[in-house]
Amino acid sequence: MKFWDRKKEVEYLKRYIQSEPNAILFVYGPKSSGKSTLLYHVVSELSKRKGFVKKYDVFWYDLRGRLISSYKDVIDIFFKMEDTETGKFISSVESETSFGIPVIANFKIRTSMREEFYSKLADPFEYMEAVLMKGKKRHIIVFDELQRLKDVYINGERKVVDALFNFFVRLTKVLHLAHVIVMSSDTFFIEEIYKSSSLENTSRYYLVDYFDDETTKEILLNEGYSREEANYIVSWIGGVPWLLEEVINEGNKGSFKEVVHALYREVLSKVKLKLLEEKSKNEKFYKKEIEFLSYLMNDKLIFEDTEVLKRLAELEILYYDPINDRITPHTKLHERAIKEVLNSILE
Ligand SMILES: Nc1ncnc2c1ncn2[C@@H]1O[C@H](COP(=O)(O)OP(=O)(O)OP(=O)(O)O)[C@@H](O)[C@H]1O
Ligand SMILES: [Mg+2]
Repeated sequence: MKFWDRKKEVEYLKRYIQSEPNAILFVYGPKSSGKSTLLYHVVSELSKRKGFVKKYDVFWYDLRGRLISSYKDVIDIFFKMEDTETGKFISSVESETSFGIPVIANFKIRTSMREEFYSKLADPFEYMEAVLMKGKKRHIIVFDELQRLKDVYINGERKVVDALFNFFVRLTKVLHLAHVIVMSSDTFFIEEIYKSSSLENTSRYYLVDYFDDETTKEILLNEGYSREEANYIVSWIGGVPWLLEEVINEGNKGSFKEVVHALYREVLSKVKLKLLEEKSKNEKFYKKEIEFLSYLMNDKLIFEDTEVLKRLAELEILYYDPINDRITPHTKLHERAIKEVLNSILE
């Protein structure tokens, strides 16, 4: 698969993985910024290195597209069951990443054990910790889209994610047994974690943003565009990987401007439609949203109405980075679209 290099991020992650586990790493950034692709790349590069497979085991849990609504579903993510007749360990959820790393359900247990976990007679996290303690290899545990577990409870009060984070802190900061890398594009989930006192001094946060303008231009030059063409494309779409793919994959290089403009029209109509829908739902709130956007576009955002920000981020009109406390349009195309919509409203 094609990989446009992100030297800085690749370096950082390689160094992190090869150092002694000491903190949970939260990799966050806007949707489709390239987080999963980057981590796949880093792990597959490392696993080609001599000695890596002997030293490390990678557990990769991709929760995208999975229906997880109960504690039992969470347990099924982690454990492989022994079939009583064949003696083989099976899992209904196992698959492989494109580079052959098992995706899910790596811990082997007997059916009776699962029942104990289900009925909360035994603690699955304690069990996993004990298994990892016995092994000789270091583990790299990757969770993609962990926010999917945020509304799952062990019992009425205790959240699964709290138990999980407690487990992660033990694996990293306390026991130095495993690296834990958690990916998420859910800004408010990351913010909640960032603010939570129980995770203070136990976690690091790493932003994987879109490509910056210079890197994007380099990518385009390598793809055969002239400098002038590259400047044009970057000024419209910036470094959003999937938008770049759209432009580049358009076989006929001569028509790149049309592709760029078509992408813009799409974003513009989406922004318009979303805001119209907001208006029809709640006119008062909609006015606040418009006010928020116009303050932002004029660099005058002095107050932060969390509800409004939350909604505009949910609608993917804005992106909010809680760690750097930065609010921006979702992409450059959105920036242009917001300006155009505001102009037509305020005229
Ligand atoms: N470095 C890269 N080189 C080539 N293509 C890339 C790169 N990074 C991302 N892409 C492309 O951009 C798209 C989105 O990337 P990816 O799924 O990794 O983003 P993400 O941040 O994990 O998204 P999400 O927040 O939805 O999980 C993919 O189709 C991928 O092929
Ligand atoms: Mg992803």
